Amino acid sequence: MARRKKIYEGKAKTLYEGPEPGTIVQYFKDDATAFNAEKRATIEGKGVLNNLLSEYFMTGLGAIGVPTHFLKRLNMREQLVRSCEIIPLEVIVRNYAAGSLSKRLGIEEGTALPRPIVEYCYKDDALGDPLVTEEHIAAFGWASQQDMDDILSLALRVNDFMSGVMFGVGIRLVDFKIEIGRIYDGDFQRLVVADEISPDSCRLWDIETKQKLDKDVFRRDLGSLTDAYSEVARRLGVMPKGATPKPTLIN
Ligand code: TMP
Ligand code: ASP
Repeated sequence: MARRKKIYEGKAKTLYEGPEPGTIVQYFKDDATAFNAEKRATIEGKGVLNNLLSEYFMTGLGAIGVPTHFLKRLNMREQLVRSCEIIPLEVIVRNYAAGSLSKRLGIEEGTALPRPIVEYCYKDDALGDPLVTEEHIAAFGWASQQDMDDILSLALRVNDFMSGVMFGVGIRLVDFKIEIGRIYDGDFQRLVVADEISPDSCRLWDIETKQKLDKDVFRRDLGSLTDAYSEVARRLGVMPKGATPKPTLIN
């Protein structure tokens, strides 16, 4: 059997050519990076958890009519997605102040924002994904005005969906990042939610205890990232079969 072709290797995923034209296989790695890959580690089981969690969120979004690139999960580490042209923007939605917003504007982490705030970063690792405005996006042609209207609408729909799903299991969606892909259907193009949605790209806090259940656990050395992601998966009922987060001693 011919070895499948690797298309791209990112920090947390590898992309392979899919079985049919227009499809891609996304392989979720156990690698974790932070601060533009200055900090790195391999965290056993992270890829499996993110694959299952991203499937869960993308499937739910599809079910309420939000278009995504997701087609189906293939196995514990891989999913089949539609190939698309990624718009070079990280689209961030914030409900509570945290991370770079808190630092930039001096707002205490956890402060409720008056309304969801949408920010855009230019996807360029060498530049450290700098924050950009719609002026930059329009002037440099990264997205058209119509794209920006669609991106804003998609981002806010994802925010409402994710906030509701998380609230249902006692978790506050503080903020998240999504990526948007362009799919061509003949002469038409449409935008879809692409990449992944997982605790790698969200801030998730337990509503009661404020415990962090996302990649900040790794960024800030707060404990076991697998335990945090497993807790999210357990609450949503998508824990990998046979996987127990902690071994139990039976006498
Ligand atoms: P920030 O507060 O560091 O700007 O992050 C905002 C949100 O975006 C947070 O949920 C983490 C996510 N994020 C990514 O997914 N990738 C990144 O490279 C960065 C910097 C943030
Ligand atoms: N994803 C980025 C990196 O790998 C930053 C982050 O998530 O903190 O460095």
